[in-house]
Amino acid sequence: MNFEVVTLFPDIIRAYVATGMVGRAVERGLIAVGTSDPRDHAVDVHRTVDDRPYGGGPGMVLKMEPLRTALRAAAGRAPAGSPRVYLSAQGRRFTQEDARRWSTAPGLVLLAGRYEGVDQRLLETEIDDEVSIGDYVLTGGELPALVVLDAVTRLLPGVLGDADSAVQESFSDGLLDWPHYTRPEVFEGRAVPEVLLGGHHATIRRWRLQQALLLTAQRRPDLLVARGLTAEERRLLAEAGIEAGLDVPVRRL
Ligand code: ADE
Repeated sequence: MNFEVVTLFPDIIRAYVATGMVGRAVERGLIAVGTSDPRDHAVDVHRTVDDRPYGGGPGMVLKMEPLRTALRAAAGRAPAGSPRVYLSAQGRRFTQEDARRWSTAPGLVLLAGRYEGVDQRLLETEIDDEVSIGDYVLTGGELPALVVLDAVTRLLPGVLGDADSAVQESFSDGLLDWPHYTRPEVFEGRAVPEVLLGGHHATIRRWRLQQALLLTAQRRPDLLVARGLTAEERRLLAEAGIEAGLDVPVRRL
């Protein structure tokens, strides 16, 4: 899959995609990441990419022309049909569902904004989607672009080391993760839950699902409502003393 990131700070993108799991995906040719810097497309001697906002006020706005040229250059390198996505605090919330959908796209063009934003006309004419990674304001869209790139990349076939990871995830889809333990069995008096030591797969699976359900009910009940609960999940929650699960719709698999 080919990612193209339009950014005034390509070094941020290059540094991240050179390391870790994403770095390995690049090395193995599973993804390619290109960058396009509007400054390289500015036409004046000062290489101006921003200007004062019409109507006054603080901050600067990224100008139409260099940004559009950079974006079109990036889109031209990406396969036809690659969604063009703008990262901004005004966007709709980016979710795992978007990551899943974009993981089957031929490519992805990500536009990272800086300053007060980009000229609205660019968004209206060149952008397919606008997403935010959360209700907080960052200094630019580079970290959000990397968040999207990372979330999409790990869903691509062959990226995750453990062949089971994607399958494992589907059984607890939409829930928070269960707790994990490794050796030693007892650390400063705190023991690993007995059930995990037994090697009884069905019991361990049940315990993990119950833990995931409990944590989700406590911390993110909104996720349970959005997802629904199967009969087994409802039983597991009730068994742990949480009856609130009963208000959650039935989940059909
Ligand atoms: N740019 C600034 N803040 C952002 C956010 N929360 N999500 C996406 N892009 C942003």
